[in-house]
Amino acid sequence: MSLRPARFSRRASALGSTRDNPERPSTEVVSVEAGRSASVGPAIRAAEATKVYGCGATAVRALDAVTLTLPAGELTGIMGPSGSGKSTLLHCLAGLDPLTSGEVFVGEVRLGSLDDDALTALRRERLGFVFQSFNLLPTLTASDNITLPARLAGSHPEPDWLRTVVEVTGLEDRLSHRPSELSGGEQQRVAVARALLASILGSRGWGEDEASS
Ligand SMILES: Nc1ncnc2c1ncn2[C@@H]1O[C@H](COP(=O)(O)OP(=O)(O)OP(=O)(O)O)[C@@H](O)[C@H]1O
Ligand SMILES: [Mg+2]
Repeated sequence: MSLRPARFSRRASALGSTRDNPERPSTEVVSVEAGRSASVGPAIRAAEATKVYGCGATAVRALDAVTLTLPAGELTGIMGPSGSGKSTLLHCLAGLDPLTSGEVFVGEVRLGSLDDDALTALRRERLGFVFQSFNLLPTLTASDNITLPARLAGSHPEPDWLRTVVEVTGLEDRLSHRPSELSGGEQQRVAVARALLASILGSRGWGEDEASS
C-alpha cells in the first residue's frame, strides 16, 4: 500500500473522513479512538510508513512510504484489494507491528519512541482492535491447509484439480506461506480453496482421487 494525501495509490486508498466523503462506499471500515487527544489534534498520523515482510527475493513490501492523517472524532474507512496492505497499515498504526521505516504518532506520542511496556500501556488505554481470523491450521502452509481434508481422508488431490482451485482463488504465489504470513482475504481464499477442493474431491469420491494420483 502506498498512500499520499492528495493522490491515493491504485492499490489501496484511505477514503478520508465520512464528513468529507459522505457518499463514498467502503468495503472495510475501522474506527480509531485516540482517547485524551481526541479534541486537540489528529487521532493518528503516519509519515513515510514503510513495512517490508521478509527479505531477499521473497520480500513483500506491504506499505510503501504511506503518509496520512486520521482526524480525531471521525470515522475513516480504508479500502483496497485483498493483499494491498490494509491490515498491515492498521497493525502498524495501532502499535501491534513495528514499521520497517517511517513514523507513526498516536496523538502526539511517537510509537517508535516507546519501549514494549509503554507501547502495551498505550494500546491498553487508548486503542481498540478487531481482528480478521479464519480456521486455518497455523503450522501448515497455505498449500497444506488446502489439501488437508483430502489427506485426512487418506487421499491425494489430483494436481489438475489442485491447480484449478489455486488459480481460481488467486493463491499461486502464496502457497508456501503460513496463515500468519497471509492477509485476511488471502486466508479467506485459502479457506475457500480448501472447501472447493474438498467438495470437488468429495463429489468425485476420495478413493478415486487416491487411485488417480
Ligand atoms: N507475516 C507476513 N510475512 C510475509 N508476507 C506478509 C505477512 N503478512 C502479510 N504479508 C503480505 O503483505 C501483503 C499485505 O497484507 P495485508 O494483510 O496488509 O493485506 P490486506 O489489504 O489487509 O488484505 P485483505 O483484504 O485480504 O485482508 C499481502 O501480500 C500479504 O501476503
Ligand atoms: Mg486484511
